[in-house]
Amino acid sequence: MLSAGLLALSLLVSALGKPVARSLQVHEARATIPSGFVKTAAASPDTVLSLRLALKNSDTDGLIAALYDVSTPSSANYGQHLSKEEVDAFNAPTKESVDAVNAWLSEYGLSATSISPADDWLAISVPVSKANVMFDADFSIFTHESTGKTSVRTLSYSIPTDLVDHLSLVHPTTTFASPTGPKLPITVKQLSTDARKRQVSSCSSNVDPACLEALYGIPTTPATEASNYIVVTGYDDQYPSTSDLENFLSSYQSAESSSASYTVVELDGGSYDPSNPGDEADLDIQYTVGLALGVNVTFFSVGEDTSDGVFGFLDTANYWLGQSTAPSVITTSYGSDESDISVGVFNSLCNAYASLGARGTSVLFASGDGGVSGSQSGSCTDFVPTFPSGCPYVTSVGATQNTGPETAADFSSGGFSNVFGTPSFQSSDVSSYLSYLGTTNQGLYNASGRGFPDVSAQGVDFIIGYEGEFYTVSGTSCASPTFASVIGLVNDRLVAAGKSPLGWLNPFLYSTGKSALTDITSGDNPGCNTNGFTATTGWDPVTGLGTPVFSALLTAAGL
Ligand SMILES: *[C@@H]1O[C@H](CO)[C@@H](O)[C@H](O)[C@H]1NC(C)=O
Ligand SMILES: *[C@@H]1O[C@H](CO)[C@@H](O)[C@H](O)[C@H]1NC(C)=O
Repeated sequence: MLSAGLLALSLLVSALGKPVARSLQVHEARATIPSGFVKTAAASPDTVLSLRLALKNSDTDGLIAALYDVSTPSSANYGQHLSKEEVDAFNAPTKESVDAVNAWLSEYGLSATSISPADDWLAISVPVSKANVMFDADFSIFTHESTGKTSVRTLSYSIPTDLVDHLSLVHPTTTFASPTGPKLPITVKQLSTDARKRQVSSCSSNVDPACLEALYGIPTTPATEASNYIVVTGYDDQYPSTSDLENFLSSYQSAESSSASYTVVELDGGSYDPSNPGDEADLDIQYTVGLALGVNVTFFSVGEDTSDGVFGFLDTANYWLGQSTAPSVITTSYGSDESDISVGVFNSLCNAYASLGARGTSVLFASGDGGVSGSQSGSCTDFVPTFPSGCPYVTSVGATQNTGPETAADFSSGGFSNVFGTPSFQSSDVSSYLSYLGTTNQGLYNASGRGFPDVSAQGVDFIIGYEGEFYTVSGTSCASPTFASVIGLVNDRLVAAGKSPLGWLNPFLYSTGKSALTDITSGDNPGCNTNGFTATTGWDPVTGLGTPVFSALLTAAGL
């Protein structure tokens, strides 16, 4: 009896589960395996994949129009940031899309769960055998050569032709993000005992908070507005240490500041072990808590239980989009190369950054540390744009060094995206630079791409407290938290005056904000056996529009 019952049941399932034939069309494909990876075997048919489906957002054009409307200083609605519900309404898929995709999944006996605030991302678990049929794919095991780490990916996948208007992508499929994570290669040197003194007014040997306060006019009077907070993201099991922070603040910031701290939020199995600090996390926390005095700082620890295929960046954006009060600044000193990430997922992630901008969040990223050869130096023929700096809705921060005058740091990544075109807010600045450039580097970069970085800040020889000692570190990883702190403090003054925080910065920076930046006009960012780009008068793809002048930013922001 029992076995007959089971038999009947399984027959029923297989009869119901037999998919109707649908015509498929290729949705995303790569011609070749990205460098650094080799295909080692077919994936086992039984391996269960955690895949995500992005449904078409119902009104992306509407979201982008609203984003520009609230972020452009000349607009009547400048600063009128959107609520969570308003942003979710733009991003929510139509009922028609939800129904069409769910009907298709149920033909394969699959059901999806929503994993984003606007229900535009669905997650499914599906064995390789079924996924290869559903998506006409060839899921295989790819080995990352330098680490030996493996991932299951496919070079191409298809979706039903009748779902093309409903489904924007399936992920991770053709994205080959480095399994070493998105850590930028900051260089760390132990600080000699005789170099350990607070700089007071100059940045003569190393960079510390006092030097940045003097150089950029950053105020030392503490912020007052509790609603204004900065999020510092952490990946790769990097945590800050409270004792390193205290050590740093008591030696290199005021005595009153030495009890300042931060709160921690964990996601995707992220943990927090302050007894086992990471240099990057210590740096990022010390130059936010230690510069944006009095501004609440949240350390966001993202673990490895992410199946987002982009280091947790997508989960990070969706987490903050799900909060009723968005942070005013998010700073990230991690990144990779644009070519590792599928165009589809980069578009979706960039849409999430646009959504954060519409909510009033400034999303800052370090531009990368390999000059024109990408997020870190490597061999290349064409220039390598970094990820996610090519997204127009992030503010990409490059690095400078020296004072009087500042010059570009030679590792400061910059260039032009191959995914996103030059946005209107920077088109005249980019075209001026291209005229200056003439035929130099022709054919090595994409002249129609979004140019980055947008701005810059000091990035060489920052003193940090680390593992009970003091070290100096260098990288655009130093520049992003520095710029984030400046924006956090401007926001504090704005909120105190009853105004909105700056939100998505770029339309402001390239218009009224431009005069509040010091243009950096010397240095370059070599790579790919070239001198890279040269910094010059006006925007350039090494230092962007320049470095901040706090008092001028307040004026430009209407204070
Ligand atoms: C930081 O945030 C907490 C919780 O929202 C709040 O209680 C506290 O007053 C804030 N601190 C500052 C300095 O704004
Ligand atoms: C150059 O950038 C544009 C986006 O502006 C993109 O459509 C095009 O494919 C890029 N070209 C190359 C060779 O990647």
